Amino acid sequence: MNFREQVDLDNLPRHIAVIMDGNGRWAKKRGGLRIFGHQSAITAVRETVEAAAEMGVEYLTLYAFSTENWSRPATEVSALMQLLVSTIRKETETLNKNNIRLQTIGNTESLPKACQKELFEAMEITKGNTRMTLVLALSYSGRWDIAQAMQRIVVEVGHGTIAPADINEGTIAQHLSTAGIPDPELLIRTSGEQRISNFLLWQLAYTELYITELLWPDFRKEHLYEAICAFQRRERRFGKTSEQLTK
Ligand code: IPE
Ligand code: IPE
Ligand code: MG
Repeated sequence: MNFREQVDLDNLPRHIAVIMDGNGRWAKKRGGLRIFGHQSAITAVRETVEAAAEMGVEYLTLYAFSTENWSRPATEVSALMQLLVSTIRKETETLNKNNIRLQTIGNTESLPKACQKELFEAMEITKGNTRMTLVLALSYSGRWDIAQAMQRIVVEVGHGTIAPADINEGTIAQHLSTAGIPDPELLIRTSGEQRISNFLLWQLAYTELYITELLWPDFRKEHLYEAICAFQRRERRFGKTSEQLTK
């Protein structure tokens, strides 16, 4: 089936988030090391970024490294960090040519200095781009995000710039690392796992979840189109009844 032709471009999610999972299993099936899976995942990243930008998606957030991933074997962590540096270095020019802005969310200060430098430069180079924002979640977790937002809100309360009684959902959203970015309408997770794994906990409140058995290194443009088609068939009720929506 050609899913690209079935995508309704007038009803695209503005923001798609992806939990890119299954690299290790993909490599294991081929008798390779886990890092071979991570290396082989770059094509999937490239295809997803390209397809999303071509269609007109405004924000694409990729979960690349979680707070919990720091607990993996040191060799895997350091290989992932090196892969991050080399990929950003290689891809920044293409991002820039395609008018894509790079942003990060997460505790990026905990990343190795070389990664921070590469990311900072890529963000500087692409900061004026307007076609799509690619958000990399690095050393990210939803609970970390909520905790850092709380800390900053409390500081402002201390300074008297926010009154406790005025703290509402908007205040919290504005202090999360995703401030200014609309909540994702669609979350894609590969590898069949049916969990959020501490991703955008606050932001996913009403997101449509799409889980595919595909392992991330096998993910291609066609699979993104397929996910968007599935999303477009859903009825998003936001607590209302179906009848209310058709009125
Ligand atoms: C996702 O693939 C990549 C990262 C979490 C960095 P995994 O490495 O989790 O692969 P599996 O889940 O072990 O197959
Ligand atoms: C989630 O995948 C994190 C990323 C994709 C970066 P994991 O493979 O770390 O998730 P769990 O541990 O299986 O839930
Ligand atoms: Mg995994």
